[in-house]
Amino acid sequence: MAKTKTKWICQSCGYETIKYIGKCPDCGDWGTLVEETETTINNSTTIIDNSEPACPINKVELSNAIRFSTGLSEFDRTLGGGFVQGSLVLIAGDPGIGKSTILLQTSNSIAKSRKVLYVSAEESASQVKLRADRLNVNEDNLFIYSQSNFELIKKQLEDIKPDVLIVDSIQAVYTQHITSSPGSVSQIRECTNELMTIAKTQNITIIVVGHVTKDGTIAGPKVLEHMVDTVIHFEGDRYKSYRILRSIKNRFGNTSEVGIFEMKDNGLEEVLNPSQLFLHEREKNTTSGNIVIATKEGTRPVLIELQALVGQTSYPSPRRVVNGIDYNRLLQILAVLEKRIGLNLSKLDVYVNVIGGIDIDEPAADLGIALAVATCARDVIVSPDTVIIGEVGLSGEIRGVSNLDARIKECEKLGFKKVIVPASEKLNPKDFNIEVIPVKRLMDAISACVFKDEQ
Ligand code: TYD
Ligand code: MG
Repeated sequence: MAKTKTKWICQSCGYETIKYIGKCPDCGDWGTLVEETETTINNSTTIIDNSEPACPINKVELSNAIRFSTGLSEFDRTLGGGFVQGSLVLIAGDPGIGKSTILLQTSNSIAKSRKVLYVSAEESASQVKLRADRLNVNEDNLFIYSQSNFELIKKQLEDIKPDVLIVDSIQAVYTQHITSSPGSVSQIRECTNELMTIAKTQNITIIVVGHVTKDGTIAGPKVLEHMVDTVIHFEGDRYKSYRILRSIKNRFGNTSEVGIFEMKDNGLEEVLNPSQLFLHEREKNTTSGNIVIATKEGTRPVLIELQALVGQTSYPSPRRVVNGIDYNRLLQILAVLEKRIGLNLSKLDVYVNVIGGIDIDEPAADLGIALAVATCARDVIVSPDTVIIGEVGLSGEIRGVSNLDARIKECEKLGFKKVIVPASEKLNPKDFNIEVIPVKRLMDAISACVFKDEQ
C-alpha cells in the first residue's frame, strides 16, 4: 500500500524535519528547508540476505578490483588507473565545463571493448549525436538513450545489459515513487541509492554527472558525495581552454593526482606536458615583475608564470589586487617585504596575476610572489632563465617545500638555467644539470637573482 509523507528537507545538508524552521539546526544555513512529499510503497518486509557473514579481518580474501581504461591517460591517472568495475563515480563541475564532452569521448573508447549505455536526461538523442559527430564518436556498442524517468532507464538497463552506464545528469532524473521535483534532495538520494545497488549487485560501472551550485559545492545534499565511491571535480576557467580533473574522494585509489586537458574544436585533448601549456606565450626578454615559479598540480610539478605590477597609488589607501593567489597571502608577503628588506609599499598599488587563469594555493609560490613584487618596485628584471621556489616565513626566512627534486627536474626539462631553492632542503647539486642556488633569507634570494648586477 502506498503511504504519503510530507517532510521539510534542508537542501544543503539533507537534514529532515516534519515542520518548517527558518534555520537548519544541522548545518546552520538559513531558508534552505524545502517541503517534499514522499510516497513509499510498502510491498514487502522480507529481507533477502545474500551477503557474506562477518569474518575476521585476517581471513578476508582479497578480490582483485577489475580496472579498465577510460581511453584518456589523464583521466585514468585521476581515477588511480581507470574505472573500477562495479563502482559508482560522480563527476561534478560547472555548466559548460565539458562533463558531457569528456564522458562521450570516454564512452567511445570504452565501447571498443565493452557495452556502454549513455543516458542523456538533459539533451535529446539528436543533440547528443550532433556532438558525437564533432567528436568522431561512432562505436556500435555505444547506446544513447534520452530519458529522465528512472523506471524507464532501469528497463533499458535490463534490455541492453551494458557493462557501463552513464547518467547525465543525476539532477535531471526522477523516480515516480517520489512526487517531489527532479533535482530535489529526496529524488537525488533515492535515485543514487538505487544506482548504487545496481552497480554493486549487477557489477555495472556507473558514472553520474552532478551539477555544481554557485558557491562550488555539488548541488543536492552532501549525501550524494557520501554515497558514491569516487568523486571527481572538473574545474577550469570557462574563458580559458584548459580544464583540470581532480579527484576529491576515491575508495579505490589516492586523491593526489589530477588530469589536465585542453578544450579544442574536436573535444578535450590531454595535456601531457602542462608546463609547456602555461609557458608557451611567455616573452623571453620580460619586463620587470615577471617570474616563473614551480608549483604542483596533484603530485606533478608545473611551471607557471606570475606577474606583479607595482605603481604609485592615486587612492587614499593603496590597492592590492590578486588573480590566482590568495589575497591574505599577498598581504602577508608585502608585510614581510616592508619589515625585513625595508621596501616601502605604503604608497604603492600592487597587482599580482597568475598567467593562464590557474589558481595557486600552496606556499611554495611565496618567494616567487615576493620577488615579482620587489623587482617590479625597484624596476629590475629577473633573468628569464631562472625559476623561483620557496615559502617565505614571517621573519624573512625561506622555508622548504614538498617534492623539491621533482620541481627542479621539471625546470631542467624545460631548459631553464638557474633555480633558486630553499637552503633547508638537503640537495646534491650534482644530481641536476641546472644551477641550483640555495637561499636562506629573502635578501639572499633577491641578491641571487637580480640585484647583484645592479649594485
Ligand atoms: P559540455 O560537455 O556540454 O559541458 P557540460 O556537460 O559540462 O555542461 O561542453 C561545453 C562546452 O564545450 C561548450 O560550450 C562548447 C565546448 N566544446 C568545445 O569547445 N569543443 C567541442 O568539441 C565540444 C563538444 C564542446
Ligand atoms: Mg552536459
